[in-house]
Amino acid sequence: MRRVLLSGMSALVLLTAAPAWTQPDPGLNIREVMLSVIAPMTNKLWAASDIRSDEQWLELEQAAMTVIAAGTVVAQGGPDGAYSEQAKNADWQEYTQQMMAAARQAVRAIQNHDEAALFTAGNEALYPPCENCHATYLPR
Ligand code: HEC
Repeated sequence: MRRVLLSGMSALVLLTAAPAWTQPDPGLNIREVMLSVIAPMTNKLWAASDIRSDEQWLELEQAAMTVIAAGTVVAQGGPDGAYSEQAKNADWQEYTQQMMAAARQAVRAIQNHDEAALFTAGNEALYPPCENCHATYLPR
């Protein structure tokens, strides 16, 4: 009886300790989000030049929006919450917000079909938070 009660309580502790957004199957871990979502999408933004067609602008807009969407997951410490402790740190939140704001700045440049502004958003705003967060949090 006591055992049952105890294990019930520890299950409760686990449930309340887990962030509300954690799903039974998180699908991806943060490294996979970085490698398969954030890196390829930011590479598209960084490589953009001589943009001519509406299709190219649309693709870039989708890439920037995807970075913003992935940022909401990074802000929570990854889909599986493996970095949820780190995500409580102010600097983690700051780098994530900077990345998302930079991607939003890229969206505005893209919507204005302003290649120079896109270049600035990519190099001056989007790149530094990647480097800064990795300098502190990349496992070595
Ligand atoms: C808030 C922190 C944070 C930000 C911002 C961030 N990353 Fe990451 N990134 C990580 C962490 C943590 C890992 C390592 C995950 C692991 O291996 O457990 C990682 C891993 C990676 C990896 C894989 C490295 C490897 O070989 O293991 C790539 C590529 C990457 N990030 C790209 C980017 C790019 C590009 C940006 C910016 C647009 C970015 N990241 C922004 C935290 C961040």
